[in-house]
Amino acid sequence: MASKSPDLMERIVSLCKRRGFVFQSSEIYGGFNSCYDYGPLGAELKRNVKNAWWQAMVTGREDIVGLDSAIIQHPAIWQASGHLAGFADLLVDCRVCKGRFREDHLEQKGVCPNCGGKGDLTEARAFNLMFKTFAGPVEDASHTVYLRPETAQGIFTNFVNVVNSARMKPPFGIAQIGKSFRNEITPGNFVFRTREFEQMEMEFFIPPGEDDQWYEYWIKQRHEWYVRFGVRAEKLRLRKHDDDELAHYSTGCTDVEYEFPFGWSELEGIAKRGCFDLTQHSEASGKDLSFFDEAKKERYLPHVVEPAAGCDRAAMTFLVDAYDEEKLVDQKSGKEDVRTVLHFHPQIAPTTTAVFPLVKKEGMPEKAKEIQGILQAAGISSFYDQKGAIGRRYRRQDEVGTPWCLTVDGDTLSEGTVTIRDRDSMKQDRCPVADLVEEIRTRVRNWKRE
Ligand code: GAP
Repeated sequence: MASKSPDLMERIVSLCKRRGFVFQSSEIYGGFNSCYDYGPLGAELKRNVKNAWWQAMVTGREDIVGLDSAIIQHPAIWQASGHLAGFADLLVDCRVCKGRFREDHLEQKGVCPNCGGKGDLTEARAFNLMFKTFAGPVEDASHTVYLRPETAQGIFTNFVNVVNSARMKPPFGIAQIGKSFRNEITPGNFVFRTREFEQMEMEFFIPPGEDDQWYEYWIKQRHEWYVRFGVRAEKLRLRKHDDDELAHYSTGCTDVEYEFPFGWSELEGIAKRGCFDLTQHSEASGKDLSFFDEAKKERYLPHVVEPAAGCDRAAMTFLVDAYDEEKLVDQKSGKEDVRTVLHFHPQIAPTTTAVFPLVKKEGMPEKAKEIQGILQAAGISSFYDQKGAIGRRYRRQDEVGTPWCLTVDGDTLSEGTVTIRDRDSMKQDRCPVADLVEEIRTRVRNWKRE
């Protein structure tokens, strides 16, 4: 990946730490490479990303159901799925500087990217990316288990359970959000590539022959999802995999990519998996995983189209895309100022509203707390802040992407109205407290990226 705008990425990482989006994991022990913890705002951001995905993929549709399968599964699953044999990166070692690198990441074949040594790289060796551990107290080969490297296999192995219990028939999908683990050789770019991450995957089971039509459908749907939640369309592109890039199970794959400060990179892949997984698990388990179509009196192994996204990558994309440093000029003094703002979609923003009493007296704090309570009871998240000048309070909320700040002043007490200050336009309007919940809901629905 080309390094295009490292300063921007550094400023975003610094904001994430300062305001409690993302912390380096195990920081008090000097940090632990490639692991991150999500702080109070990051936890809300990630939860909102997952809710937006789940709503679009499961609760907002009739043809997809959810699943929450185990992380540690029968080791035979990874044998059958091909992950034990094929889920590996090819690595080369430099004999001079002792560095270890992915062969497909070398800028020049045979040249060490660290010390520049030529002809000192070893032959490539396969390195399996699955984390191994032991189930139970005996640490030997017969007790070896793996942390799942994708959530998908839990879906395939539960295919018949779901068909029978939820009475689903193809075309239908099973969706799952959960942690996956890969012993990545070159983690990096903040939360973009880590060894522990969350995936949002959906396996869509279809009658054989409908592969291309559903593949195109899901590419379109998934691209639109990012745009719907505020990502600028010009920062997204679709990239079809070359044949030599395809995973061992796939016959076609298109990535949704985003132009990060470090270059275009994959957010999610939409893959045609054919009947590879159900065939493998049928053969290895000896269980019939085919589907019987009652209407057509036909039995077949469904094919699969899979949109597989990363929750951390999606959260990072929403953050990077929302980030802006706006130059403002004060009308009166002519003084220039920079406003750091996150233009999040209101459903992605960690907090929807902030409530401020204009001053800390005359009953304003009490009224502001009362309004915060009304909003929270209506399911609208709300943050209370009474510290510092009002302008500074607005700026603090801009920096974490809160779409609307509500200020309680003298008129609130006498007339029952509050000021709503919009994060993006910085425009202020007055609204009766009695209409506030509906007003915020309408603004959430109508929000558009400027
Ligand atoms: N079941 C298919 C599958 O796992 P993948 O392309 O390897 O496909 C899907 O992974 C998504 O999971 C990726 O597009 C990415 O968003 C996310 N992902 C994969 N490896 C990751 C890592 N090391 N760190 C963060 N996210 C990762």
